Amino acid sequence: MADILYINGRYTTTDEKVIGVEDRGFQFGDGVYEVVKFLGRRLLFMPVHFSRMQSGLEELEIESPWDEATFEKMCRELIDRSEMSDGILYVQVTRGESERALFYPENLAPTALAYTRRFTFPGSAQKERGVKVITMPDNRWRHCNIKSLNLLANALARKKAQRAGAYEVLLINTDMDVREGASSSFFAVRDGRLVTHPTGTAILPGIVRNEVISLALGEKIRVDERPVHEHELYSIDEAFITSTTQGVMPVTEIDGRMVGNGRRGEITRHLQKLFDDLESSL
Ligand code: PDD
Repeated sequence: MADILYINGRYTTTDEKVIGVEDRGFQFGDGVYEVVKFLGRRLLFMPVHFSRMQSGLEELEIESPWDEATFEKMCRELIDRSEMSDGILYVQVTRGESERALFYPENLAPTALAYTRRFTFPGSAQKERGVKVITMPDNRWRHCNIKSLNLLANALARKKAQRAGAYEVLLINTDMDVREGASSSFFAVRDGRLVTHPTGTAILPGIVRNEVISLALGEKIRVDERPVHEHELYSIDEAFITSTTQGVMPVTEIDGRMVGNGRRGEITRHLQKLFDDLESSL
C-alpha cells in the first residue's frame, strides 16, 4: 500500500505526483521539515516537533500553514488513514511556488505536505551492539538550528561515511569541536557526566537530545553542555548518538578507535532504557 499523503489541505497517497517544478522547496531547498515517530498509532513528542517547526518557519519568514491544533489534527488523520501502527511521519513546508528567482514574492502560499512512512526502528541486538562512526569537517551553513530542507552537506558526508563502512558521521568545526551527527545529536560520557554541544546556531536542538538531558538530570547525572574537542574523543568512557529514528544509540568506535572498552557503556544503557520506557509510556 502506498503511503498516505497530505498536500495543501487534501489527502491522497504518495503515488500521486503533487509538486510543481517551480516549488521553491524543489528549486532551493527553501523550507523546513520534521520527522515524527509514531508507536502503536501514538504520535510522540508532538508539541515539541510543532514548536521547532514553527521557530524554523519564523526564522525563514514563511507563514505557517497550521496552528498547533490543526497540525495535530492533520497528523492524526494521516495515522487514522494508514494501516501502519508504527512508523514515521515526514512533514515538510516550503515557501511555495513561483517563477524561479532567488528573490521571492512576499506572501507566497506555502506548500504544506506530510506523509506516513514505514520504518524499521533499531532492534534490541543493534541497540546493544551500537555503531561505528567517523569524523568529518562540518561543511554546513551557520543556521543549523533550523531544520532546513538543505541537507546537501549532510548527505555528502553521510555518503562518505557509508562508503567507509560507518553508520554515522560526526561533524567537526574548524576549532576541532564535535558538533553533531549528519542526522543525530552526539553525547560523550566522561567521568560519569554527559557532555554535549550546547544549543545555538551550530546544531539542531534535537528532541531526543533534550529528553535525554532531562532524563539524565532526573537521575542526578550531571550534564555539561559544552563542545567535545576532537582530541577528547580518544579519552571518553562512552558515547552515543540520539535521534527520533534511532533513539539512544551507543557509539562503540570512532575513526577506527574503540570508545572505552568498545562495548555499550553502562550510562548509555541506562539512558537508553529510560528513553525507551518514556516512549512506550507516552
Ligand atoms: N534528523 N541533528 C541533525 C542534523 C538531525 O538531522 C537530527 C534529526 C538530529 C536529531 O534530532 P531529533 O532528536 O529531533 O530527531 C540532530 C531526522 C530524524 C532526520 O533527518 O531524519
